[in-house]
Amino acid sequence: MHLGRTTLSKFLIQELDGTEGARDLAALLIDVAAAVKAISAMTAKGALAGVLGSLESENVQGEVQKKLDVLSNTAFVNTFQMGGLVAGIASEEMDDPISVVGEKRGPFLTIFDPLDGSSNIDVNVSVGSIFSILRAPAGRAVEPSDYLRSGREQLAAGYAVYGPSTMLVLTVGKGTHGFTLDREVGNFILTHPNIRIPADTSEFAINTSNERFWEPPVQRYIAECKAGKTDIRGKDFNMRWIASMVAEVHRILMRGGVFMYPKDTKDPSKPGRLRLMYEANPMGMVVEQAGGFASTGRGRILDVTPEQIHQRIPVILGSRNEVERIERYHQEYDTGADQRYSSPLFKERSLFQ
Ligand code: F6P
Repeated sequence: MHLGRTTLSKFLIQELDGTEGARDLAALLIDVAAAVKAISAMTAKGALAGVLGSLESENVQGEVQKKLDVLSNTAFVNTFQMGGLVAGIASEEMDDPISVVGEKRGPFLTIFDPLDGSSNIDVNVSVGSIFSILRAPAGRAVEPSDYLRSGREQLAAGYAVYGPSTMLVLTVGKGTHGFTLDREVGNFILTHPNIRIPADTSEFAINTSNERFWEPPVQRYIAECKAGKTDIRGKDFNMRWIASMVAEVHRILMRGGVFMYPKDTKDPSKPGRLRLMYEANPMGMVVEQAGGFASTGRGRILDVTPEQIHQRIPVILGSRNEVERIERYHQEYDTGADQRYSSPLFKERSLFQ
C-alpha cells in the first residue's frame, strides 16, 4: 500500500474483505466520514459562518448546548437517516434514540458524541466527534435496551479530530488506523496505518483542579508523577490538559501517555464525568486496538454492562503499563494492602488491632 494513495473507501474494502456484512459496514463508515467532512467544514469556517456561541437550550446532561453541538448532531442524524444503513441513532445531544423504520432501516445502531470538547469551540482549540457502531436486532423494532451492550460488542468505533488538519481515526477490530482529510479533493487518505501506543510513558493528562475530590489511589499516582526523579518513579513527568478528550486521546495514540477523568466526589450523583456509550467505549476500543488499555480504575471499560445510554463512568486510558499501575493502586487501596493510601475502612480496622 502506498501511503497517501489509499483512500478510506479502498482501505475499508480491503480491511473488511471476508467479514460478514462487510459491504454495509464499509458503507456506514463512509457515511460517518461524510458527516465528519460537513462538520469539519463548519468548524473551519468558525465565526465566518456564524456558528460560534451558545444556544438557550440544554442537553439531557444539563449542559448548555453550543450552536455547533446542534449543527453537528443534525449532520450525523441526517446522514444516518438518509443512508439506509441504521435502525437506530443515539446521541449525546438527544434525550432518547431515534428509530429508523421502513425501507430506510439498516442493520446497525449508531451511538455518537457529535462534537466533543465543545467548550473549546469559541477559543479555537481542537474539538472532535466520537462514534460507536453496534449490530441492530433483526426482524423487530429497536428498543432502548438494544443499545445497552458492552463495549466488546462494538463492530467499529472511532473519532474525528478537527485540529490543524482533520483526521478520522477508526477501528473495525483489526488495529487502529488514521486518515487525514485532503480538503482539495475531499478524500480521507490513510496516513497513519496500524497506530501503536507505547507501553510506557512519562506524560499524563488530568484536570488537577479536581485534585481534592480524587480518590487516594489517583492522588498517589499523580503525586508520584509530580515528584518525578526525586521519588519512586525515578524520572520526571510532563503534563498536558486540553479539555477535549478527542485531542487528548489523539496525542496518546501519536506518542503515548495516560489520560484520566477518574471517579471523584465533586458531584456525588455522578460516578465520573465522561459518558460510557459514546465516549469511553469507542475510545476504549480505539486505544486497545492500538495496544493501549482503558480502565475505570477497577476493571476494563469494555467489560462494563451499560445500564443507561447517557450513563457516566470513570475513565483511565493510554499506555498499558501506566494504566495497569493505576489499577494496581486502586486495588491496593480497596484491599488495604498499602497502608499510606488504603481506604478509611482499613485504617480504622488497624487501630483496633
Ligand atoms: O464532555 C467531555 C469533555 O469536554 C471532554 O472532552 C474533556 O476531556 C472534558 O470534558 C473536560 O473536562 P473539564 O471541563 O473538567 O476540563
